[in-house]
Order: sequence, then structure tokens, then C-alpha cells
Amino acid sequence: MRILIKNATIINSDKKEEADILLVKGKIEKVAKKINEKADKIIEAKGKTVFPGFIDMHVHLRTPGREDEEDISSGSMAAAKGGFTKIFCMPNTNPAIDNESCAKWIAEEGRRVGKTDVYPIGAISKARAGKELTEFVALRRAGCLSLSDDGTAIKDSLLLRRALEYSKMSETLIISHCEDTSLSNKGSMREGAISSKYGISAIPDIAESTIVSRDIQLAQFLRVPIHLAHISTAKSVDIIRRAKKQGVKVTAETAPHYFILSADDVEKNAFDSNFKVNPPLGDEKDIEAIKKALKDGTIDCIATDHAPHSKAEKELPFENAPFGFIGLEFAFSLIYTHLVVKGVLSIEDISKKLSFNPAQILGLKGCGKVEEGFCADLVIVDLDKKWEVRHKEIVSKSKNTPFLGAKLNGVVETTIYNGKIVYNSKNES
Ligand code: DOR
Repeated sequence: MRILIKNATIINSDKKEEADILLVKGKIEKVAKKINEKADKIIEAKGKTVFPGFIDMHVHLRTPGREDEEDISSGSMAAAKGGFTKIFCMPNTNPAIDNESCAKWIAEEGRRVGKTDVYPIGAISKARAGKELTEFVALRRAGCLSLSDDGTAIKDSLLLRRALEYSKMSETLIISHCEDTSLSNKGSMREGAISSKYGISAIPDIAESTIVSRDIQLAQFLRVPIHLAHISTAKSVDIIRRAKKQGVKVTAETAPHYFILSADDVEKNAFDSNFKVNPPLGDEKDIEAIKKALKDGTIDCIATDHAPHSKAEKELPFENAPFGFIGLEFAFSLIYTHLVVKGVLSIEDISKKLSFNPAQILGLKGCGKVEEGFCADLVIVDLDKKWEVRHKEIVSKSKNTPFLGAKLNGVVETTIYNGKIVYNSKNES
């Protein structure tokens, strides 16, 4: 299959250019001002913007165990609709993705569905119980480029030390869920004026930053890379910034809700559980710090932390409901609307935070850029179109999002994965 994209505005992390793009057999064959070659399909992209396929380092696909909430097929469809051509799924499933055969099955099922690459993230500890390490080499062999006990932090610092040591040998990346559970103490929202006013059990911001600090010190001591998931507080950002200046191999992600929403939104929405997430929504200071950290590179990338939950569970009272939001279908438009249109980030930064940097962090060669020889994973976007997040249009099996009704700029029109069109907004293919 040969696809020729004409007159595109290509956005790479370091440059913007007008050109044609020829895709042949899953690769970008040519990028040039005018390409006049035969193709099976020609896409006229005048006025449209082309990004390298987005990469989401942090997704929950709920399989095995909770296929009523999401599965590889529905999650892949949501990814394709959001422009994601590679997604990494967390192992907090039931059973956990903590062994070679389970991880292999996830990757194979992803290939069978064929709408996006699905990379399993293996658990760090068996059953994610925080006691005994999993077999890192076997998990790596099964396709796990990264390992995490996401959903819970590794309490035992010695276990994390061993995990970091073995990660070097097994060429895997440790992704840390930073939460001191003795401080978060089963809280439901960020500790502050609102939690006190309503007597809601709460999580102080230092529940995150104390573990950020511990993890960075371990990574520095062992000289091993570590990646910090869903960073949400100003205090964590300060610690990461200082560590990066000292040359520590630490990378970090945040999620769109941490630069858009705060604990005020929890109150304004009458404690609707669709505003409950872990780490919890912070305050204006945190939002400003996260934006600054994205701008200056302290935070390397944006992941969705796509966390589907059933309607029945999200309808429980705020304190009893599970944490988490879905995010794959809205991430691009949320970032474009809240960061690029408002002048916080440049359009090239979208390419950096959603494609180039995640590819670098995960060691994915030959992707994350629209360049000759790179993989034919592309997203064609109409930046001038606006849309509204509507329940009935969500393709994920779960609909738990605080962004229902949000009016957003920028529509993903076409997603090309491995040289094939896997999503088109006109026919929702
Ligand atoms: O809000 C969250 N939901 N945070 C997590 O760390 C886990 C996730 C989930 O699995 O639902």
C-alpha cells in the first residue's frame, strides 16, 4: 500500500515545514516539496497539520480481568481516534501482568487488533504485592520495555533499589507511581481548604513529593534511569528540576487534567466522582508549576493515564468511587486548546511531548518523527475545527471523564498506523 499525503504542514519537535509525504510498506519513503509518484491512495492535506503518531506511555486497558470496562480492541479504537499509534498498558489488572505469557498475550492481541502498537508494561513485583521482584529478563523478552507497579508505590526502598539494579541489566525502564500511602492514608482528594470544609479524607501534596525525592536519590545513587508517572504537584516539579540540573537520569510525565483542573473543580461539580483521580487534582499553584515544567523541559512528556471505570462504580459516593479518568480520545485537543492556543507551548512542543520524547525515553528507534526512513505512523489534524466532548461519541467502553461537554479546538481527522489508515473522522473507520 502506497499513500501519498499532499501539501501537509508537518510538525516535528524541532521544526515546521510544508511538504508532501510518501508512505510505502509501513515506512516514510519520502518527504519533499513536491512528490509526483503513483500511490494507491492520495490524501489532500492542504490546510491540515501532520504530526508523528502519538505515543502514550501510560494507559490502563483493564485486561485481563475487567473487560467490561475496557479491552484491547476498545482501547485500541480509542487510541486510534486520539491519534495514538503506540500505547503502553499498565499491569494493575486482575491477574497482574507479572509474567512472560500474560505480557506476550497482550502484545499479540494488540497486533491482532492492529490499530495501534500495544506494549505491555510488566509489573515490578509479583502480583504487584511489593514483596518479590518479577522476572525482568523474561518480561523484557515478552515485549515489556518498561516495568511498573502503577496504582501503588513500591513501599520497600530496598525492593526498588533491586528493581533499578535489575532494570539496567534487563534493559527495561522503571516507571514509578510516586505516593507515600501512609501519608495519602486512603484520602479521596487533595488536602486543603475544600477537603477541610466538607470533611473529606484528603491527600497532602507531600504524599507525592516525598516519594519523588526518594526515587530520585535512588536513581542518582545507582546511576540508573527512572521515569516518574503522573506528576501533579509544584513540590515534585521543584525536586525534579533540581535533579535534572545535577544530571540525574530522571524523566517525568504529567497528564492533561493536571494542567487544566484543580480541587476547586471537584467542589464546583458537587463531588462528582468523575473528578476523582490519583494523584488528586491540586491547586492553581500546581497548575502553573506543571505548565512551567512542561515549557522548560522539567516534565518531558504528556501521557493520558487513561483509566476506564464502570458507570456503576463511578456512581458511588465520591469517597467510595475508584480513582481515574479516561483520556485517549481527548488528550490532543485538550493539550492544543489549553496549552498551545493559550500560548503556553508551541505547536512543535506537542510533537515533542506526545511523540519525540516518549520515543526517546522508551528507546523506540525510528519513530517519533516525520522523517524519511521512520515508521509510517502519522496523525492528520484540523487545527481550525472545534468539537464538543459528548458521551455518545466516546468509543472507549467506559465514559468516566470530567471533560464531558468541554468545547475543544483541533480535531484528529486521520490516524495512520504502520502505513494503514486506522481511523478517519468522516467514517470513524
Ligand atoms: O487515578 C488513577 N487511576 N490513578 C492510578 O494510579 C491508577 C488508575 C487506575 O488504574 O484506575
